[in-house]
Amino acid sequence: MKYLVISGNPKLTGLCYSIREKILQGAKDGGAETELLRMERHERCRVCGDGWGTCREQHHCAFASDGFGEAQDIVRQADMYCFITPVYWGEMAEGLKCFFDRLRRCEFGPKGILAGKQVLLAASAGGTGNGLLTCLEQMDRFCRHTGAVIYDVIAVNRWNRDYKAQAAYSAAKAMAEGRKAGESLVTG
Ligand SMILES: Cc1cc2nc3c(=O)[nH]c(=O)nc-3n(C[C@H](O)[C@H](O)[C@H](O)COP(=O)(O)O)c2cc1C
Repeated sequence: MKYLVISGNPKLTGLCYSIREKILQGAKDGGAETELLRMERHERCRVCGDGWGTCREQHHCAFASDGFGEAQDIVRQADMYCFITPVYWGEMAEGLKCFFDRLRRCEFGPKGILAGKQVLLAASAGGTGNGLLTCLEQMDRFCRHTGAVIYDVIAVNRWNRDYKAQAAYSAAKAMAEGRKAGESLVTG
């Protein structure tokens, strides 16, 4: 079982990083093989052709040699995912958005490489705390276009980071352990 964390965070310290580490640890402890794909500086879609390029019919990007093709293969090979980003301007970080814009064009609909696969969405707002919902809504829309199944949503800010870190760990672990819809941990 391959658990892929796709991250838009450019930092190796701080709030978003600490949550990402918890998620990787949770997935490992749940028995998954983990991989981290850092997408913080990805190039944007060039909108080639008449608005659709090779992406629509051939499911690959005409400019895939800039690293997109390799990243698409890594996504293809994974079984479940976490998408994690810092909130920038109430949206996901720009590099991650650029990658998702290109991936969505190649992988939209029920036959795409994300269709039917589980995803944990996580976003951290380190400033005012504003913009978490709009950022997560953007990621939610990407999931709807690609058919990815949202397992849980983790919204982190400076005030809730202690208990959201635990929730992030637990969500990734439960996914990796293969918890099914309808199963409950409540025994009493
Ligand atoms: C360009 C930019 C825009 C940002 N916009 C927001 C924002 O809209 N709301 C917010 O709460 N924090 C905002 N922040 C702060 C980030 O969300 C914060 O850095 C992020 O949660 C990661 O925390 P960390 O830097 O401790 O890892 C912004 C940061 C940057 C660099």
